Amino acid sequence: MPSALPLGDPVPTDGRFPPEVIQALPARADKPFGLYVHIPFCSVRCGYCDFNTYTAADLGPGASHQSYPETVMAELEFARETLDDAGAPDRALSTVFFGGGTPTLLPAGELARILHRVHELFGFAPDTEVTTEANPDTVTPESAQILAEAGFTRLSLGMQSAVPHVLRTLDRTHDPENVPAAHAAAQAAGLETSLDLIYGTPGESLQDWSRSLESAIALRPDHISAYSLIVEPGTAMAAQIRRGELPDIDPDDQADKYVMTDQMAQAAGYEWYEVSNFARGGNKRSQHNLNYWQDSDWWGAGPGAHSHLAGMRWWNVKHPAPYAQRVQQGISPGHGRELLDAEATVLEYLMLRLRIVDGLDVAEFNTLPQLGQSESSPITQELLRQLTEEGLAEASAAQPSEYYPEGRIVLTLQGRLLADAVTRRLVT
Ligand SMILES: C[S@@+](CC[C@H](N)C(=O)[O-])C[C@H]1O[C@@H](n2cnc3c(N)ncnc32)[C@H](O)[C@@H]1O
Ligand code: SF4
Repeated sequence: MPSALPLGDPVPTDGRFPPEVIQALPARADKPFGLYVHIPFCSVRCGYCDFNTYTAADLGPGASHQSYPETVMAELEFARETLDDAGAPDRALSTVFFGGGTPTLLPAGELARILHRVHELFGFAPDTEVTTEANPDTVTPESAQILAEAGFTRLSLGMQSAVPHVLRTLDRTHDPENVPAAHAAAQAAGLETSLDLIYGTPGESLQDWSRSLESAIALRPDHISAYSLIVEPGTAMAAQIRRGELPDIDPDDQADKYVMTDQMAQAAGYEWYEVSNFARGGNKRSQHNLNYWQDSDWWGAGPGAHSHLAGMRWWNVKHPAPYAQRVQQGISPGHGRELLDAEATVLEYLMLRLRIVDGLDVAEFNTLPQLGQSESSPITQELLRQLTEEGLAEASAAQPSEYYPEGRIVLTLQGRLLADAVTRRLVT
């Protein structure tokens, strides 16, 4: 089962924002605003996955695939009213992301219907990026066409690996042949494409990983996400490792595979722009994910979905049945919320900026209002020099310039492998 939610203050049933957030909202008018729509269904649960997703057998009739579109649209209407009541600036959506679970387990026409309602309620900015995640078995030329005609612009396919024994260890049930077929269908419909891959699965050799990368690159997607396998506590895979049925993951092996990913991706024309993400050109980056990493605002709709608005995070009740009950009664599905204090704001700024290719603007960080109220110190030129000398930060980016008077920290390949350790050095 998916893991438990974090603790936080309770969300009032009317969902009303606290005064601090209402006061901060007008100043957010120029920040991008995104929408995440969670679709909590999968046909099979993969043994490594801790996402908030359920098979049909897990769910009773109170939260069926058939009733879900109306349920999630009820939350979208609730979101519109809550934002209006708070006097939020009128911001059209710059990105929409349908994630899961497996959004494409719903018929394409239903995803189109939800998107249509999203557009009616929030409006789209020019060039709004609209992505759906998909499992390779659930995309056909017809469904891709329906999605493109409805306004989706991007499809992100869960490929994970091209090697049968690795797919088996991951409990993936998709037919590997369906990856090129689904990818071709998306491209033919005019959708941008992204492929998700996982490296470091127990039993995966370096050759296996190189084969998966080659197969992904050969399809020429616009974007590739390569995630190191995380063994999440409480998953079936964690139990298999504990019982000795699978070897544990090896961080050195994962580091070797990350280096291979960077080299092969670059050689094929894909540039890293976030530690796990590579795009064929700047305009193929996932704007939705970039917004998460750059302190933007987003509403997350659906069971267990997380939202962020003007320094407040909140998260919905996790199980689809109580979630449905609440939104159908017109009460907030929010389970908990918290205002980010100075410490959390500074830490989040460091962690997220260090992960992206634009890096951390030292002058901007050193003048963050929250920095003075936190335990952290400003970043000195001496620390910056040490990081470049140790090969962790790019020397050219560290140089002061007109736009970055105190330079930037942009991680090198070595630095990306040690991103968490670099973050720890900057918070003390
Ligand atoms: C919601 S899923 C994508 C869509 C679809 N459900 C699928 O898997 O085909 C998002 C992605 O998260 C990644 N992921 C899930 N669990 C992971 C884990 N434990 N470690 C690393 N990556 C993981 C997978 O690459 C997966 O494609
Ligand atoms: S199909 Fe995707 S969301 Fe569903 S269990 Fe597998 S990785 Fe998780």
